[in-house]
Amino acid sequence: MQQDKTGLSQSLNNANFADRVLTWFEDHGRKHLPWQQNVTPYKVWVSEIMLQQTQVATVIPYFERFMASFPTVESLSEASLDEVLAHWTGLGYYARARNLHKAAQQVCQQYNGVFPTTVEQLEALPGIGRSTAGAIISLSLNQRATILDGNVKRVLARHQALEGWPGVSKVHKALWDIADQFTPTDNCKAYNQAMMDLGATICTRSSPSCLLCPVSTDCIARAANTWQNYPSKKPKTIKPIRTSTFAILRNTQDEVYLIRRPEQGIWGGLWCFPEIDKPEDIHFISPPAHKTETLPVFRHTFSHFHLDIEPIVFTMSRSTAEVREDSGAWVSIEDAMLKGLAAPVVNLLKQLQTRARS
Ligand code: ADE
Repeated sequence: MQQDKTGLSQSLNNANFADRVLTWFEDHGRKHLPWQQNVTPYKVWVSEIMLQQTQVATVIPYFERFMASFPTVESLSEASLDEVLAHWTGLGYYARARNLHKAAQQVCQQYNGVFPTTVEQLEALPGIGRSTAGAIISLSLNQRATILDGNVKRVLARHQALEGWPGVSKVHKALWDIADQFTPTDNCKAYNQAMMDLGATICTRSSPSCLLCPVSTDCIARAANTWQNYPSKKPKTIKPIRTSTFAILRNTQDEVYLIRRPEQGIWGGLWCFPEIDKPEDIHFISPPAHKTETLPVFRHTFSHFHLDIEPIVFTMSRSTAEVREDSGAWVSIEDAMLKGLAAPVVNLLKQLQTRARS
């Protein structure tokens, strides 16, 4: 297929691409999501950050709880990081919550609590990339701005049969150019929402409904029945495996001991069981705890490595213990569940709860 230097196919007429997408949106687009009601840049921002890596259905209850607790950017900026992280427990990718909190403080300090409205200003805030900036501007103000999230990338890569993994800068740039050329001046809010909806509901990763797609007639991948090839997959790399031993300390009041992790590094600012090098390493506990049980090793996978976690349960012989750690606390499992927790800690606490009941 002939392509010009932007990657746009020459031989097809894409002129009314946006019109077809907009017409489809009238009948089939999503218009009743919680962040689409009484829209503000703040709501769009929070929802877009939650929707990165997370499905709409999962996000909805988190978004509603978040807005009930932090209804404005000021209230978010004044909350403690711990409170914000507690609202994120279970959503994962906690850097998103830390950045949200930091960016709220910057919006209050630098812009008096009023969201900036240019892509450049928004991109300068922590956690906001070019696509999220475009979504905030277009969805909340109906101004023209281009977006390119994972769903939109898939629609465009297939429509144009664009070769190459989007992680490669040339391919990434070609996709942005295509996205920019298709974005209309008017109705940008509906168009961008429609493109995300099209990707999420019609042009799905593994079973696209091409018969229902408004842009299937000139979709190159559809014509060639090669939609599975787009966008190209990331070349496989082997993730290294690291190991960690979690010390699950329990006292006679059925409490567990958790520490708040330093803000830098994995699970920054989240509550976690203390990590130890070896079982004898419980030197920070006095009086001593007894190792009672080793739970099965399980794997938690991060973007760059696997972490094999060995949980060991230690039981205190007295109800209170002097524990030499700055950031730790004894908490009941129920209270622990209300904190911002590392994902494997949630699993382990649930296991402890189930065992206590049985
Ligand atoms: N994914 C990212 N942004 C979205 C939005 N505004 N609506 C639905 N899904 C989305």
